[in-house]
Amino acid sequence: MAKTATIDIDGQKYEFPLLTGTENEVAIDIKSLRGVTNGVITLDSGYKNTGSCTSSITFLDGEKGILRYRGYSIEELAEKASFLEVAYLLIFGELPTQEQSVKFHNDIKAQSVVDDDVRKIVDAFPKSAHPMGIISSLTSALTAFNPSSVNVKSEEDMYKAIVKILGKFPVLVAWTLRKKQGLPLDYGDKNLGYVENVLKMMFKQPNEDYVQNQVVVDALDKLLILHADHEQNCSTSTVRITGSSHAGLFASLSAGISALWGPLHGGANQAVLEMLEAIKADGGDTKKYMAKAKDKEDPFRLMGFGHRVYKNFDPRARIIKKAADEVLGDLGIDDPILDIAKGLEKEALEDSYFVDRKLYPNVDFYSGIIYRAMGIPTDMFTVMFALGRLPGWIAQWREMRLNVEPIGRPRQLYIGETERAFVPVDQR
Ligand code: ACO
Repeated sequence: MAKTATIDIDGQKYEFPLLTGTENEVAIDIKSLRGVTNGVITLDSGYKNTGSCTSSITFLDGEKGILRYRGYSIEELAEKASFLEVAYLLIFGELPTQEQSVKFHNDIKAQSVVDDDVRKIVDAFPKSAHPMGIISSLTSALTAFNPSSVNVKSEEDMYKAIVKILGKFPVLVAWTLRKKQGLPLDYGDKNLGYVENVLKMMFKQPNEDYVQNQVVVDALDKLLILHADHEQNCSTSTVRITGSSHAGLFASLSAGISALWGPLHGGANQAVLEMLEAIKADGGDTKKYMAKAKDKEDPFRLMGFGHRVYKNFDPRARIIKKAADEVLGDLGIDDPILDIAKGLEKEALEDSYFVDRKLYPNVDFYSGIIYRAMGIPTDMFTVMFALGRLPGWIAQWREMRLNVEPIGRPRQLYIGETERAFVPVDQR
């Protein structure tokens, strides 16, 4: 017999179906709640207990520290797969065959030129603009240069839109950086791998060849894989909810980029570095900042610590910590900021405030350190996160449209004034 959950409201019992996912997670299906109870809703600000959809893309178990894309563990993918293979896996559900892999990359490369008029938009930004503001605007601008909407019923149409954004987004990322640095806007090299091309587009100086460093290439590939999806987080939910109004793919992605910007989400990697810089400038006293983080009167939080769902450890943080050691070791970087980071990490892991609240270093605690070692400016960190998250957003948008989900429209519990009469201005 199908399992149900019973809700008792003022002595009246209502039954709702219990749904079980493939990993035995259980959800109460309350779709009919408002209708059968004559207007009762659930209230869950921050959605800590609310599933917004069913999904077969990413599974994570925050208590056990598990993260899997389409069933494959993040540890195995980070070690054995390339970012483009992971992108294909997330979006289309299976790892690509050799042939599919080559075709996918060729199709992306064929789309890796943006309309030259986009340069004019890039030129119009002040150099002081935050890169996240630039990249979200440029992604939105792509809708103007590619006005035809995606026919989601056509796999071919959908595929074309997907390779288009995967081809053009790295160019926009590189141009965002180059604009800030006053470097000429350039295109990549079709002979290079996806990640090598990103690095060359970003860092090539006009008067010299760009020499690839395999350690940097591998680390960036890994970082992008680790960030590629994370189920229904703030930016992904934004992409899905924007797309649920049938807004196009690029417009939905631009909304997701804006959501990612905040320091409680993707902006945390920038915030971590800024925090470490501030601690250094203040004499490097980590204990002082530990005390500030624990002081409830002080708004300061230890950036890069804690996670909404990982209450044990962030599996991505383990992988990236190792990558950070490799990159810094290989590039021979001796960075005082890193010593401060290590000090904070050690103290927090031994401090009962952090231990009791299960606050562990998250992926962003270490990603900023690697980006810094690669020579990526601090305010570009979140843009790099967006580059990694792109396939996840695309996969989630595609799934949402193929599942024919209804428009996202939460309810509220109104707690404002009840009806009152208008008071003319001379009587207020
Ligand atoms: N420093 C100090 N105290 C913290 C921190 C922190 N970084 N994070 C949480 N706490 C404390 C809270 O003050 C609260 O304490 P209390 O129970 O005494 O009131 C308790 O831990 C629980 O915190 P919540 O804010 O309720 O946890 P929530 O799950 O809502 O927040 C979040 C998670 C936003 C990530 C939070 O831990 C945080 O602000 N961390 C710093 C920012 C950060 O690193 N964000 C990146 C997230 S990962 C990503 O987006 C890729």
